[in-house]
Amino acid sequence: MAYKVPFVDPVKNYHMIRDEIDAAYFDVMLKGDLIDRGHLKSFEENLAKFVGTKYAVGTNSGYDALHISLRAAGIGPGDEVIVPSHTFVATCSSVVNVGATPVLVDVGKDFNIDVNKIKEAITQKTRAIIPVHLNGYMADMPRIMELAKEYNLVTVEDACQSLGSCIDGKKAGSWGVTGCWSFYPFKILGGYGDGGAITTNDPDVELFARRMRYNGEDRKTGEYHGHGFTCLLDNLQAAFLDIKLQHFPSWVMKRKQIAKRYRDAFSDFPDLILPHYNKPHFDHVYQNYVVRSKQGDEFSNYLKNNGVEVLIQFRKPYYKHKALTLTDRGFPETEALSREVCSLPMNAEIDNEQIEYVIKTVRAFYGR
Ligand SMILES: Cc1ncc(COP(=O)(O)O)c(C=O)c1O
Repeated sequence: MAYKVPFVDPVKNYHMIRDEIDAAYFDVMLKGDLIDRGHLKSFEENLAKFVGTKYAVGTNSGYDALHISLRAAGIGPGDEVIVPSHTFVATCSSVVNVGATPVLVDVGKDFNIDVNKIKEAITQKTRAIIPVHLNGYMADMPRIMELAKEYNLVTVEDACQSLGSCIDGKKAGSWGVTGCWSFYPFKILGGYGDGGAITTNDPDVELFARRMRYNGEDRKTGEYHGHGFTCLLDNLQAAFLDIKLQHFPSWVMKRKQIAKRYRDAFSDFPDLILPHYNKPHFDHVYQNYVVRSKQGDEFSNYLKNNGVEVLIQFRKPYYKHKALTLTDRGFPETEALSREVCSLPMNAEIDNEQIEYVIKTVRAFYGR
């Protein structure tokens, strides 16, 4: 079915910046610069500058960024790592795949880890915490950093959904030992395939990540410094991302305007909870505009059947998937919100008429 309002429109987005993207493509192709070349270096420098860290290291995905970060911190078998119970599964898989044990903690009304529930999950074995900044809104990093200090925990930020967001001007990805980024196509800063990065202020972590993403090799000396992986960000993707990073601030601005229009249009429905929170120092970049509808699937199916493509993320919490063999300690907020979440169209390419159509359709569902 062709939607009147698609959730995202990558072709339309491409046309918005086609000349620049095509020029970057030809630049890479005509130079034959494919692996670990100038475009990657330039993007890494610009990303680090944007986030406010000393270094950025491009990886093949957000998952790889998390995985390498945990290895850099020496996390492994026998260690416990705290992760939120409501997130993309990769946050948790990175912990399992270094041989450590994830310990899940429920989230709060803002979809992020509930800081009041972290202490009770800490044991003698807890070595690290991965706060996730979900949907474009940061977890409560000031309180998390305090706890990390008190319990001597390594903090790895899963910032995959929150480039550009900040608390009191301090950007996501600049608080922990690393910030982990995904450039999956439908991120605000998305490539044309998989991509990711680590940001850090620690030169040892930077060096470790540079080597590990390239099979453990120091590219200058040829020395192997450990058994590594093949997971660096392609030079071609970096060239595209470098262009898109220049457009990023205006795309976030547009998202904020759309969020305001949704808020103005939907504030009068008691059955619909909107993603606006009363924390003036926290800046939301609206990677996703996730509403909670009491009507759950009935609401999202109505939108889809009426031409509005919505995204339902995590209807079944990841810890309920049997094959993952995770411990469900009972996460009431995650269970409740999982039944209700619905992500409305939110992107840089949506036009005014389409926004009006989304508004009209949501209002029609609630009988206005
Ligand atoms: C919160 C979160 N963590 C981790 C990831 C993993 O990123 P990638 O898909 O690039 O491996 C994603 C990707 O969507 C994500 O949203």
